[in-house]
Amino acid sequence: MKRTIFKYLTRFLLPAESAHTLHTALIGFVGSLPFGKWGLRMSLAPRKINLEREVFGIHFNTPIGVAAGFDSDGELLNELAATGFGFVEIGSVVPRPQPGTSRPRIRRLRNSDSLIDNSGYPSRGLEYVLDKVRRRSDYTRNLVIGCNIGKQTASHAEERVKEYLRVFRNMYQYVDFFVINIACNTASKRFVPRTREEILSLIEPLFEFRRGQPDYRPILAKISPDLNREELDTIIDILIETPLDGIEAVAGSLELLPEEAGAVSGARLTERSIEIVRYIAERTEGNYPIIGSGGMMLPEDVCRMLEAGASLVALNTGLRENGLKLLKKSSKLLATKSSAQSSEQTQSENKA
Ligand SMILES: Cc1cc2nc3c(=O)[nH]c(=O)nc-3n(C[C@H](O)[C@H](O)[C@H](O)COP(=O)(O)O)c2cc1C
Repeated sequence: MKRTIFKYLTRFLLPAESAHTLHTALIGFVGSLPFGKWGLRMSLAPRKINLEREVFGIHFNTPIGVAAGFDSDGELLNELAATGFGFVEIGSVVPRPQPGTSRPRIRRLRNSDSLIDNSGYPSRGLEYVLDKVRRRSDYTRNLVIGCNIGKQTASHAEERVKEYLRVFRNMYQYVDFFVINIACNTASKRFVPRTREEILSLIEPLFEFRRGQPDYRPILAKISPDLNREELDTIIDILIETPLDGIEAVAGSLELLPEEAGAVSGARLTERSIEIVRYIAERTEGNYPIIGSGGMMLPEDVCRMLEAGASLVALNTGLRENGLKLLKKSSKLLATKSSAQSSEQTQSENKA
């Protein structure tokens, strides 16, 4: 019933971006009430389900987290922690505030649980986000925070290296891991680094800075679903041969529906993102962490992504369109599957 009302409100009454703004304002408002965060935890957080895991040296309460672009400026860290997410990827963080493109810029695709995003990754900029994470409350103690670094829309490609490094250095001591967005910003589509040289020129300065730090922060690269096999192999080789810690696959697709002129996310992306994650996991023999993202609309999608080889799963369009309950439902299904698997295993061990 609740889901029907949510879907009705979001899908039929409000455009996609307004629905998200209202949704996040409501979550923030509830969280600010005296027992609001407790209420969020009681109604939305999975309970008595143990899905803990260790990935790239960090402990996660659950493998399910929030992808970049849902809480770009880190406004809802307390509330998302109360809701029980294992991690939140803030960003894309860029050095200076950028408003994004003019509205309407996020559309629903008719007859499909998908969005077309042309927002250009609006951001309040580094200083604002820094202030949010510096002042993160005790409430977010168990929440892992990732910082997604993206390209400032207005900057030239040559400035990109300096800008990524600036965000990385400033955020380094305040977040747990980094995701370097090497897919496109939807407003500056020309600057997608695809060759080994282009990708290394962006990430090597970050490795260099990290070498001089007392604490280690994992660095992942977030890739486009539009890479061809050769380009995908290039980034996998970089993962194997350099100190890169993992890959996040995938961002929105610009090529899946070229006639739509924007990045496709949601249901239309599900099969492609799972296929790419499976390919990376097979080629790396499951030895490197992968964050699976793209079209995780239903609990079944989350389970399939983890089965394909993802260590963690990041949600965006699924939360926007289907609500935060997706976390609780997915956790229940994961727990049911894993207890069925372990009882099957016990039975076969007993038989043997
Ligand atoms: C409205 C919107 C804004 C997004 N903003 C960002 C962003 O700032 N940085 C980024 O790396 N990805 C961004 N993404 C991509 C998502 O994080 C995610 O990788 C992609 O949408 C596929 O997952 P999904 O189908 O669950 O949305 C955004 C996606 C949407 C729909």
